[in-house]
Order: sequence, then C-alpha cells, then structure tokens
Amino acid sequence: MREQKDLPLVEKTRLGDDVYLLGFKTPEAIQFRPGQFAMLRATHLFDPFLRRPLAIFRQEDCIIYFLMQVKGKGTKQLSSMQIGDTADILLPLGNGFPPDIEGDCLILAGGMGIAPVFSLLSSYRKPILIYGARTESELFALEIIRETDSEVIVSTDDGSKGEKGDVVSVFSHLFPDFHGDILACGPDGMMDSLRRATEGKDIRVFASLEARMACGVGACLGCAIRTKNGMKRVCKDGPVFDIAELVT
Ligand SMILES: Cc1cc2nc3c(=O)[nH]c(=O)nc-3n(C[C@H](O)[C@H](O)[C@H](O)COP(=O)(O)OP(=O)(O)OC[C@H]3O[C@@H](n4cnc5c(N)ncnc54)[C@H](O)[C@@H]3O)c2cc1C
Ligand code: FES
Repeated sequence: MREQKDLPLVEKTRLGDDVYLLGFKTPEAIQFRPGQFAMLRATHLFDPFLRRPLAIFRQEDCIIYFLMQVKGKGTKQLSSMQIGDTADILLPLGNGFPPDIEGDCLILAGGMGIAPVFSLLSSYRKPILIYGARTESELFALEIIRETDSEVIVSTDDGSKGEKGDVVSVFSHLFPDFHGDILACGPDGMMDSLRRATEGKDIRVFASLEARMACGVGACLGCAIRTKNGMKRVCKDGPVFDIAELVT
C-alpha cells in the first residue's frame, strides 16, 4: 500500500443521475488484486476530512478507474471534481478475491456491486458474470462490460432488460446444479439470499463487504465485524470474506 498524492482526474463520465466513472492518472501502473480498494480524498478539500473507500474498478494505460455512486458529502465532493483537479489516494488496500480459483467459477454482481468484481473478468478463466439491477437504466457498467469478451447474463428486477428477477433467483434458475466458487458483491439483501440459496451445497461464496471506514488500513477498528473466527476488520482482513465465516 502506498499513498499516491496529487493524482490528476483525467476522465469523468456521468453514467447515471448520481453515478460517475472517475479516472485518475498514476505515474506508473498499480499492482492490485480484484476486490482491493482505495481510500480517496480531493487534495485541497478538508471537509469531510476522512477519505472515502472505493473499489478499484479497473486500470488502463496508467489510469485507475472508480465507479462511484453519490451517497453523501464525501462522494458528492469527489463527484464535483473537475478534470485536472487532484486527489490523494491510498491504494491498493485490503485483501481482494482469492487468486487460487481452479474449478467452476461464477461472478454475481448486484447494482453498484459490479465495481469490485469488474476486474475479475480479465483475471479468471472465462468467467460467467450475472449482472443485475432493479431496472435497465441502473445497469450502469453494461457498455463497459460488453467491451470485454466475458459471457454476461443480465437481469433486472422489473424485466426491462435480460432475465426478469434478481441476480440470485436468476442464478438459482439457470444453474440449479452448480458446484464451485461464487465471487459476489451486492446489497445486503442480495448477500442474504445468496447465503440461503447456497447453504448446504458444494459451493464456496466469496463476498466483498462494505462497512463505514475511517482509516482504511486496520488502525482504528471502526470497521470491525464479528465472524466465526473472532472480530475481523473489513478494511484489513477483508473486504472479501468467505460467506461461511460470517455471523448472520
Ligand atoms: C471496501 C469498500 C468499497 C466500496 N466501493 C465502492 C464503489 O466502488 N463505488 C461506490 O459507489 N461506493 C463504494 N463503497 C461505498 C462508499 O464508500 C460509500 O458510499 C461512501 O463512503 C459514502 O461516503 P459519503 O461521505 O458520500 O456519505 P456519508 O455522508 O458518509 O453517508 C451517506 C449515507 O450513506 C451511508 N453509507 C456510507 N458509507 C456506507 C457504507 N460503506 N455502506 C453502507 N452505507 C454507507 C450512510 O449511512 C448514510 O446514510 C465502498 C465501500 C467500501 C467499504
Ligand atoms: S477503517 Fe480503521 S480499522 Fe478498518
């Protein structure tokens, strides 16, 4: 992990009402694992003072990209950055998805959960991605995903695009006999139903979790969660956890 100071914003694309793709130029390529994240703060603004965590979405030509939805003050501030403005960014942070997947592997992403899993598409052998959202206009990353040669199954809750239904029910319907590993990220409800859908089956689920973070580097314990193996810090021990380890 290192701090990259004064990284200029070189790309900013609005993908939806409150969703942006932000690209920052780095002096050299960053080595990171899919699922690792960064802590960001606009360089010259100190309110809020704390950096905000964002998954590393992808990297291309020494530009590091983040897919970000505006939620409150910190993300609003990042979204108001103009091309040429700079940010101080700590990265790469945390433990990403396991690098040792050898059998069948599916990626499940619900809504903004696409951000930490996107870079898996180029790192595992021919992964199948199930990418869902409530409605077509919220499939923010679909065009970017289509640029990869991955097999993508799209789903929407209202049936406006792709399979009708949420990501987990589409998975259960299309892959009733699946054995292997699932790498997933999505809202809490999606993770709960994924846990139920895979319970008692020969399936490992690795999930990228979210938590409120202050330091992002394991120092403040602000992001601690209870697991079957004791307290764990989402920022340092995660954010990717084997779902079987989590206390429901
Ligand atoms: C490891 C990690 C990776 C993340 N990756 C992304 C990403 O790639 N793209 C993206 O858009 N967002 C991502 N997030 C979520 C993002 O960090 C929060 O939305 C952001 O920190 C909110 O800060 P804020 O100042 O804008 O909002 P605040 O003013 O701090 O909060 C606004 C509202 O959002 C809620 N909130 C804030 N943080 C979280 C959180 N972590 N989980 C659930 N609710 C929260 C608050 O309770 C409040 O209701 C990630 C979070 C983590 C921990
Ligand atoms: S945010 Fe400080 S320990 Fe995780």
